Amino acid sequence: METKVTPWDVEGSIDYSKLIEEFGVSPLFSPMKEKLTSRMKEGSHMIKREFFFTHRDLDLVLKDYESGKGFFLYTGRGPSGNMHLGHLIPLLFTKYLQDAFDVNLYIQITDDEKYLYKKDRKWKDIDEFTIDNIKHIAALGFNPDKTFIFRNSEYIGNVYPMLNTISKKITFSTAKAVFGFTNETNIGFIGFPAYQIMPTFFEKKRCLIPAAIDQDPYWRIQRDFAESLGYFKVAAIHSKFLPPLTGMDGKMSSSKSATAIFLTDDEKTVKNKINKYAFSGGQVTLEEHREKGGNTEVDVPYQWLKIFFESDDEELMKIKREYERGNLLSGEIKKVIIDKINSFLKAHQEKVKTVDINKYMYTGQLAKEMWKKKYLPKD
Ligand code: TYM
Repeated sequence: METKVTPWDVEGSIDYSKLIEEFGVSPLFSPMKEKLTSRMKEGSHMIKREFFFTHRDLDLVLKDYESGKGFFLYTGRGPSGNMHLGHLIPLLFTKYLQDAFDVNLYIQITDDEKYLYKKDRKWKDIDEFTIDNIKHIAALGFNPDKTFIFRNSEYIGNVYPMLNTISKKITFSTAKAVFGFTNETNIGFIGFPAYQIMPTFFEKKRCLIPAAIDQDPYWRIQRDFAESLGYFKVAAIHSKFLPPLTGMDGKMSSSKSATAIFLTDDEKTVKNKINKYAFSGGQVTLEEHREKGGNTEVDVPYQWLKIFFESDDEELMKIKREYERGNLLSGEIKKVIIDKINSFLKAHQEKVKTVDINKYMYTGQLAKEMWKKKYLPKD
């Protein structure tokens, strides 16, 4: 299968070092990594183990932070269905960064994008997923006075003039080249990228975006004209993709539901999906496994532990060693990840039941300020 990485589709076997070249991003290196991890109480394993692996201008963001100029965070979600673990990871990482640096955070919910994306999408469905997804995001526990979660269709009145200025900066030929639009693409969707760029101008400080690398094409365009509008080029820190249950190719994706663990899955579903579909690096027979050991490079339960669910390096090393020596069996490593995911989801689902989304959308300090603002072009 041909490899493809766009904001809407990820397929095939991904060569991340090739992507670094193609996208023109820079690998994360020392001492930048240490500057981040030394402040983070949680999530630093995602940097150390190179799940977050590249950046744009992160060094300048850190400089601005150290000199007292500060920065702000921005990330988002397209509410086209139930959220899965892959969506959660960049959002949680963003929370860890907010905790570490105590900065404002904007979370864009692109209901417009997801409605426009497919012909047969109904607004009613997108509307329901929007509220549902916002609950799941708010339940992650961002700082309610420094976080603004907004849906595009609702906040549009506050940004419309500035949005037009951004649209004027992007020609159809650029949009075609960057996003692969064709004559068959509907014109709403062609214009949408301007709105995903808009939040990078919410403050006159550097904006840092944590997201998977698929979203980078938007940032590339922003960086071409941001300074001509008197703003900073946007900075980003990119993650790889949480692999699907079925193997290391592509990404966990809601459009292929057997490949994903959803945030709404119950204990039994998680157990069944992992036992049935999780790609195993174990050997075919017990004897062979005891003799040759498992392959952790391709074993999805192991990779999920490494990427996110086992933050303790010693514990992870122990699992790796025992699995590769054949002492730990495929069913046993599956049980480890099933238990981790279920305890995580149980706690998360409890929080979703009682979360107050209003403070993030309307009543928290930053939300209140944002509803008073009107973004007008300077020209
Ligand atoms: P969406 O809803 O497709 O994805 C939301 C976030 O999840 C990341 N992501 C993944 N990360 C790791 N592993 C995976 N398998 C995986 N699948 C998705 C995406 O990179 C993204 O960070 N247009 C956007 C919404 C958006 C946005 C933003 C995202 C608006 N503004 C700013 C990031 C930053 C979208 O539809 O994302």
